[in-house]
Amino acid sequence: MDPDGRGTEKRTPPTGPDGRREPATRPPGPVPRPLGLPPADFDRDPVACLARLRDEYGDVCSIASGRVLLARPEWMHWALARSNGAARADQFEEPPQFRRPDLIRDHVETWMAARRTAQWHRLGRDVAERTAPVMRRSLLSFMDAAGDSPAGLADCQLAVLDAAGGVFVRDLEGPLRSAFLAAAVLLQRESMASFALPYRFSPRARRRLRANTVWIEALVAHVGARRAARDAAEPPSDLLDLLLDARDDDRPAFSDLEVAQALSINLGNVYTVGGTGLAWLLAACGEHGVARPEGVGAEDWARAVVKETLRLYPAVALTSRTLTEDAEFGGVAVPAGDSVVLSSLLLHTDPRWWREDPGRFDPARWLAEEVHDAHAYLPYGAGPRICTGVHVSNAVLESAAGLLADRAVTGRSGLPGRRWGAITQPRRFRVRIGRGAAAG
Ligand code: HEM
Repeated sequence: MDPDGRGTEKRTPPTGPDGRREPATRPPGPVPRPLGLPPADFDRDPVACLARLRDEYGDVCSIASGRVLLARPEWMHWALARSNGAARADQFEEPPQFRRPDLIRDHVETWMAARRTAQWHRLGRDVAERTAPVMRRSLLSFMDAAGDSPAGLADCQLAVLDAAGGVFVRDLEGPLRSAFLAAAVLLQRESMASFALPYRFSPRARRRLRANTVWIEALVAHVGARRAARDAAEPPSDLLDLLLDARDDDRPAFSDLEVAQALSINLGNVYTVGGTGLAWLLAACGEHGVARPEGVGAEDWARAVVKETLRLYPAVALTSRTLTEDAEFGGVAVPAGDSVVLSSLLLHTDPRWWREDPGRFDPARWLAEEVHDAHAYLPYGAGPRICTGVHVSNAVLESAAGLLADRAVTGRSGLPGRRWGAITQPRRFRVRIGRGAAAG
């Protein structure tokens, strides 16, 4: 398989568990609602609705016109592994009202090239080590502040931006940082909205377009200044340097605008998704208590707490791919053009793939061997469009989990509800972080 996910092996996904291949049929499912909408309970709790449909109709079933649920780990992995190929990921296209021709030029190709250049695994490892003290300091001051007055989701997002933003742009400061925040806050609201008015009717959408333009233009200017000052003999210090250093036949591989685009995508995710990840970690620690069992090392425990949080409270609980070729899943035909819906949360809570009761929050499960079936744990996705922030996100969350070992998180009683959208956020989230050992 090449990095673009165009596999040379057979395109037909695996058959059902018994290996039998039935003649292809269309996916079963409920009677479609008017306008081809999903069942009414999908809006209230999409993953509970998907679980109901899976139990009623099977692991491949229709949830709305042109939308098909895949609920087996190997099928989900099949689709994710073919992103950009037989199963197109297009979630980073800007909504039409925000498109500017220069910003979407060769979008997928440029982005995939930037992904390859940046060598995320290397960036993740090197940078996580180098920035560990910065992360720790920033998280400590966030936690101290949350001891005095309760922290909400926006505070978590700022904390993660300050802890990890430097991995991508080490000098994200002053007006550049303000321009980023103005655009990010509005973008997030837009991406969580269930209904968006067309651009020309929506003052908020117009504000967001303006804020986005200001931010991208400031970033492009910053990239230009960094390019002019870059000494190639110096080792790269952030993602910006790595992208500037990339060469295509001795010429810079990316224009300033392309570098800015790749940086902006990542910084946007640090703030929105990374911050949401921290909020869920705090919510989980507050609700369940995560006292470290005797005999377990501090780092191992922090890692286990983070894995368990990402299992039960993944910030990206749902994603989808559009098939560009006909496919067949366990004898059920899904035609090109249909969108396959994939839910990490559905997979993470399906007892068929987990050794211990997956409904229970239990970080200790991660101390055992063979915790789950292959491909049954996908908090960061998989394949060529796997989250680029895996290492950075884990470094921030593990650092935070370590600091929480001698702190107590308190908030409203019970776990916050979920606000479903491109990101699954905790609803009405507010916690106080006090001194004192974590409860067990
Ligand atoms: C430092 C924080 C983070 C950064 C910089 C980051 C960055 C990104 C980027 C740039 C993508 C798009 C990749 C592409 O389409 O090629 C992505 C995808 C994704 N991220 Fe993250 N992310 C972060 C945190 C998280 C967290 C906390 C989660 C939740 C568990 C998460 C889960 C995902 C998933 C599941 C995808 C793939 C979506 C899909 O395949 O459709 N990310 N991330």
